[in-house]
Amino acid sequence: MSINARIARLSIVFIALCTLAFVGFLAIDSKENVEITHALNPALTSAERGEFLLGLAGCVSCHTEPTRKEAQLAGGRELKTPFGVFFAPNISSDIEHGIGAWSSEDFIRALRHGRSPKGEHYFPAFPYVAYTRMTDGDMLAIQTAIMARPPQNQPSKPHALNFPFNQRWGVKFWKLLHFREGAYTEDSNQSDTWNRGAYIAEAVAHCGECHTERYPTGGLVRSRWMAGVKNGLQGETAPNLTQDPKTGLGGWSDEDISFLLTSGLKINGDVVGSKMYEVVENGTSKLQKDDLEALLKYLKNLPPIHNPEAPAAQGF
Ligand code: HEC
Ligand code: HEC
Repeated sequence: MSINARIARLSIVFIALCTLAFVGFLAIDSKENVEITHALNPALTSAERGEFLLGLAGCVSCHTEPTRKEAQLAGGRELKTPFGVFFAPNISSDIEHGIGAWSSEDFIRALRHGRSPKGEHYFPAFPYVAYTRMTDGDMLAIQTAIMARPPQNQPSKPHALNFPFNQRWGVKFWKLLHFREGAYTEDSNQSDTWNRGAYIAEAVAHCGECHTERYPTGGLVRSRWMAGVKNGLQGETAPNLTQDPKTGLGGWSDEDISFLLTSGLKINGDVVGSKMYEVVENGTSKLQKDDLEALLKYLKNLPPIHNPEAPAAQGF
């Protein structure tokens, strides 16, 4: 090998090492400082509101094994995705295996910033892309409700992810592309009711996480917001919820939609499928009248997007 070739090869190795060191440095960067901005209003952090939010936000559904309903929040539920299998961890009040020892700041850091108490990045299979938009008060209400529930003494299972998706530091770059963190800010061009509905749909109930297409990297295609997806992350087809008259909810009346969200029955009389059934059972069926109306207002104002790949059911 000539000297020049050797130098060239050494420089490549050197550049590669520098890149790795830099990436490593980024991965262990300092953890997020969390400041609680909303005053701790006991009315807003009540366990009762927290219980309602735990259901509406899907925390219980995802963090409980469907075959072990008695072990709520003990984790273990499998999420099969193209990136590998995630196992939702134990988030019960157990000190050893759950999050019983977490401070309020730790909890907010997880939901708002997608970071662990040590500052590691969480995988976005934990839908913090939506939860980041919750208020501090609602996050703390959820934590209060978790702490009021019994601890589950069961270790979390490690994920079984394919390389390179098992590299946690990579999530940092994913976040740069697809994660906009921060609490929901009201749109002043819209009514209070609409804003309330948007908060429910986008921050808490995360309808868009299932009903929006994703890029191959797993980020949401925001220009196709709620326009439905065929074979989503877990292979499910979630229909178009926009106002498109042929392939969306354009032909559904307010009553049709609220009937589905409270009873799980579709416009054509079928019972809605498993994942959505859980959303209805644990969440939307428990919405207060005002919240349900707000959610309807938000849905009825979604700009129509045509998507014959994932059409909503149509009436007769
Ligand atoms: C779609 C499934 C899903 C839903 C819904 C969900 N999570 Fe998770 N959650 C996960 C997964 C998967 C992880 C593991 C992420 C990782 O390892 O990076 C996780 C991690 C966590 C962690 C970190 C636990 C630890 O040991 O570090 C907390 C806390 C948490 N979730 C709380 C919640 C709360 C509160 C809600 C409801 C507001 C919720 N999750 C809703 C799937 C979900
Ligand atoms: C965990 C994923 C998930 C979440 C979160 C979710 N959905 Fe769904 N939704 C689905 C799936 C999957 C279906 C299709 C069910 C079926 O095939 O019967 C569905 C069906 C529906 C339907 C029926 C449409 C039709 O044509 O049958 C409506 C309406 C709906 N969802 C509204 C919502 C709203 C509003 C939210 C937020 C409050 C929401 N969904 C949150 C997965 C989800």
